[in-house]
Amino acid sequence: MKEYTSNNIGDTQKIAKEVAGTLRGGELIALAGNLGAGKTVFVKALARAMGIEDNITSPTFVLMKVYDADFGKVERLVHVDCYRLEHAEDLQDIGLGDYLNHDNNVVVVEWADKINDLPEGTIYIKIESLGGDKRKIIID
Ligand SMILES: Nc1ncnc2c1ncn2[C@@H]1O[C@H](COP(=O)(O)OP(=O)(O)OP(=O)(O)O)[C@@H](O)[C@H]1O
Ligand SMILES: [Mg+2]
Repeated sequence: MKEYTSNNIGDTQKIAKEVAGTLRGGELIALAGNLGAGKTVFVKALARAMGIEDNITSPTFVLMKVYDADFGKVERLVHVDCYRLEHAEDLQDIGLGDYLNHDNNVVVVEWADKINDLPEGTIYIKIESLGGDKRKIIID
């Protein structure tokens, strides 16, 4: 487990970049944290670090967006936002089955606490607001 304090958006971006540096492909990243905690900020910085130039917006209405990446073996970043899921569901139910466990993909899920039974090896990242711009970021 690693714990960071972020004092501003730049710190969060730096932490995301550091996490990106540890990715080899095939990872599933589960992001948790309240509304406005900084989950999407984190994903955007992760995407930047993976050579993605597209503008990342939260896939609120489509649930999932797939971006072409150019980062070692990683060719795809799959961004999922479960905020609007009304009931807990499985990764298979939301259509992620095909994307999981492929070396060429990294999957990152906002509001991952709404998903049942995340697989072993999932990288859990929790962003907690400490008031103002301050955040605690816990990586597990
Ligand atoms: N230390 C910080 N780290 C990240 N974001 C910060 C920080 N300080 C302030 N912010 C601001 O907080 C907001 C975070 O918004 P963001 O959309 O990333 O949240 P979110 O967790 O994805 O929310 P949602 O649950 O609605 O998807 C941004 O406006 C960002 O500028
Ligand atoms: Mg978001």
